[in-house]
Amino acid sequence: MLVVDFGAQYAQLIARRVREAQVYSEIVPSSTPVAEIIARRPAAVILSGGPSSVYAEGAPPVDPALFEAGIPVFGMCYGFQAMAQALGGEVAPDGTREYGRTSVHVEASGVLHAGLPAEHPVWMSHGDSVTRAPEGFTVTASTDRVAVAGFEDTERRLAGVQYHPEVGHSPHGQEVLRRFLHEIAGIRPSWTTASIIDETVAAIREQVGDGHAICGLSGGVDSAVAAALVQRAIGDRLTCVFVDHGLLRAGEREQVEKDFVAATGATLHTVDVEARFLAALAGVTDPEEKRKIIGREFIRVFEAATADVIANNGADHPAGHTVDFLVQGTLYPDVVESGGGTGTATIKSHHNVGGLPDDIEFALVEPLRALFKDEVRAVGAQLGLPEVIVARQPFPGPGLGIRIIGAVDKQRLETLRAADAIAREELTLAGLDRSIWQCPVVLLADVRSVGVQGDGRTYGHPVVLRPVSSEDAMTADWTRLPYDVLERISTRITNEVAEVNRVVLDVTSKPPGTIEWE
Ligand code: XMP
Repeated sequence: MLVVDFGAQYAQLIARRVREAQVYSEIVPSSTPVAEIIARRPAAVILSGGPSSVYAEGAPPVDPALFEAGIPVFGMCYGFQAMAQALGGEVAPDGTREYGRTSVHVEASGVLHAGLPAEHPVWMSHGDSVTRAPEGFTVTASTDRVAVAGFEDTERRLAGVQYHPEVGHSPHGQEVLRRFLHEIAGIRPSWTTASIIDETVAAIREQVGDGHAICGLSGGVDSAVAAALVQRAIGDRLTCVFVDHGLLRAGEREQVEKDFVAATGATLHTVDVEARFLAALAGVTDPEEKRKIIGREFIRVFEAATADVIANNGADHPAGHTVDFLVQGTLYPDVVESGGGTGTATIKSHHNVGGLPDDIEFALVEPLRALFKDEVRAVGAQLGLPEVIVARQPFPGPGLGIRIIGAVDKQRLETLRAADAIAREELTLAGLDRSIWQCPVVLLADVRSVGVQGDGRTYGHPVVLRPVSSEDAMTADWTRLPYDVLERISTRITNEVAEVNRVVLDVTSKPPGTIEWE
């Protein structure tokens, strides 16, 4: 089904909620002509929220032809008002405003709200209101201020609500959405992790044929799941490349070398280039310069490793054979944000991964292109990838190199790696992995402070804990970790990591801070 995005910050959330109801959904911009929407033959259409009212300046209209096409349509918030207006109902430009938690009264025994508590909380965000439902519609909900907060015409399979059913603050919202999809629109719930895997594997087989593919593993969840899917589809015609630049966290290389390979049987080519990276970074303290050096070296190493794999494949396979496909872990939110569709693109590799040999043109295989992050994790788990990979929190490409404030060297990396491992272990033990976005541990390598340990004076470095909560890393808040967890982390780090004698907590949101310190 299609979610028509009227500029709501909630469009992606709506699409995810629809998929949680086991119905595949895609987002299209509201500028999409109705003829195009109809031509795609969606099982249903959702009109998202958007500007606060249909009278707002520049409010995008809804073409009434959409409602003549026999496609089930559900309007939410702005989509609800636009639908009411297009179908001959009445929307009063009266500035009736409701923002935040509001109580709705269930009005009649329609389908959407039947059997729900007669009064229940929902999340509202609108000015103006629908004062008269269009002909043929039953009003199913109201509020103290708004007479028409929900309506439906089950005959024509059209319905809508003034509130935002997709947000967690509308506790019955998912049920209302599910009833629209399954009961009013009559869509069979069939989008499951198993069906995602079957369809994706079939599509990869079709695309790759008897060709060969290469995949750069970062240790992160996206590249691991993408590689696992391709491995399932084409077996040992996939080669994975993993660059160990020495800036990884404790256990990450082992996770890839042992756990990933054990779970997938993939052919893995690890390149051990710690010495090269440390030499390139020696004495560098400027964050941007560090990032540039790490990025540049990474590209060179990946390029050389790829050339190596290609040369070896050339030896192992019929004359003239090369690697034709490059696997990438692009996710659906990236596709939506760049305005792209769900097709696949052929690019010159160096535009994307950077620096791959100029004369090689790879076709991209992007098996996660239609998926949200939570679906990627579910697919990974079903493919047998271990929890440490599937539930992994974001980790920056430049690794620990940008979590040492000051110059990077082997000793400092070992110190930070040890402190980071303790923090991660305690957060995992406390069951907090899924509730925090990530918790960088930062070593202030050029700062020393006086401490006392045993009977002696110490003069060691501080580490900073940076626990954050976020939806998308664009904004973040500092996570209020339980004091006892903070205490365990602090005690263990100062006892077990000799160079660290102080643990401090970063209580800055983003903005003004960024998540990483460099
Ligand atoms: P900032 O520090 O910009 O970080 O608030 C936002 C998110 O992005 C991650 N991050 C990176 N990820 N390469 C990456 O793949 C990078 O160079 C990079 N820098 C930051 C960071 O961990 C956070 O999740």
